[in-house]
Amino acid sequence: MISQKLEHAVNDQIQLELQASYLYLAMSALCEARYFRGFARWLRAQSREEYGHAMKLFDLMGELGAPIDLKAISAPAVQFDSLRALFQEVYAHEKKVTASIHHLYALALEQKDYPAQPLLQWFVTEQVEEENAAAEICHKLDWLEDHPMGLFALDRELGGRSAGEVSH
Ligand code: FEO
Repeated sequence: MISQKLEHAVNDQIQLELQASYLYLAMSALCEARYFRGFARWLRAQSREEYGHAMKLFDLMGELGAPIDLKAISAPAVQFDSLRALFQEVYAHEKKVTASIHHLYALALEQKDYPAQPLLQWFVTEQVEEENAAAEICHKLDWLEDHPMGLFALDRELGGRSAGEVSH
């Protein structure tokens, strides 16, 4: 069993994670089109990871016998003004997800939804990693934007991320 309040909030979170997956996939396509294949690969892996986050919550709802209410995912409106601007958007999105996860966790505590808490705790920890990874790339791009060789080196570094890797 799960409270109705938490049920609605988890359904909203599933939408947010799927929206993030769609957003990062669109960003990956933009990087690919500019031949920044390492950035594209990192974003594609991140997109897959966000899909995995949605599925973790989807499974939680199933295990708790709560109804799943899938909501509409909108087309991401992404522009490629610069890699720096693109990754600042990634970082901003991760901060939004973190705020939403903290809200969910607070709700689970308030509603005494004990079975949901261990998984939500996992998400709290995961978000620390996700924000750090995005912040690190933004920080490097702050320094490297006007240095093509540095950008190519970072592209190579990010392209080394494997599909299942959590960060970097
Ligand atoms: Fe699932 Fe990057 O938050």
